[in-house]
Amino acid sequence: MKPLLSAVVAASLAIPALAAEPKDLIDARQGAFKIIKYEFADTLAAMMRGKREFDLERMKIAVNRIQAVGGVLPEAFAVESTGDNTRAKAEIWSDPDGFQAAAVKFGEKIGELSAAVQTGDKAQIGPALQAAGKTCKGCHDDYRSK
Ligand code: HEC
Repeated sequence: MKPLLSAVVAASLAIPALAAEPKDLIDARQGAFKIIKYEFADTLAAMMRGKREFDLERMKIAVNRIQAVGGVLPEAFAVESTGDNTRAKAEIWSDPDGFQAAAVKFGEKIGELSAAVQTGDKAQIGPALQAAGKTCKGCHDDYRSK
C-alpha cells in the first residue's frame, strides 16, 4: 500500500512542469494495467481458484509487483490525455477528486491484500482479493470507457 499511496499523494502535490507526451503516458498506463491484470487476475485470482498451482511466494511477488507498477499511475494520469488510443474518460480530469479517491481506495485495498497474503491464510486472502477487485471495477465503471 505504501508505495502506491505515497506516489498518489506526491503526484497530487507536484504535477510535473514538463510532462511527457500524451502518447507515452497512455502507453505507460496501459502497460501498467496489463501487468496489474496479469498479477491480479492471472496470478492471484487464478491461484485462489485452483487454476494455477497455489504458490505463496509467487503471490507475494504478485502483490509487490502490483504496488510497484501502480506507482507509475499518478504520473501517467497527471496530464489530460484522451483520444482514440485510450479508454480514459474525460471525467478523470473534470472530476480529479473522485478519480483520486478511487485510486487511493485501490491503494488501500491492495495494501490490505498484501497483509492478507503475508498471513498465508486463504480464508483471509480470498475476501481481500475480492475487496480489491471491487476497486478495479469501481474505477472502471466511472472513469474507463467500454
Ligand atoms: C483509479 C482508477 C482505476 C483503478 C483502481 C483500476 N483501473 Fe484499470 N484502468 C483504468 C483506466 C482509466 C483505464 C484506461 C487506460 C487507458 O486506456 O488509457 C484502465 C485500463 C485497464 C486495463 C486495460 C489495459 C489496456 O490493455 O489498455 C486493464 C486490463 C485494467 N485496467 C485492469 C485493472 C485491474 C485488474 C485493476 C485492479 C486490480 C484496475 N484496473 C484498477 C482505471 C483504473
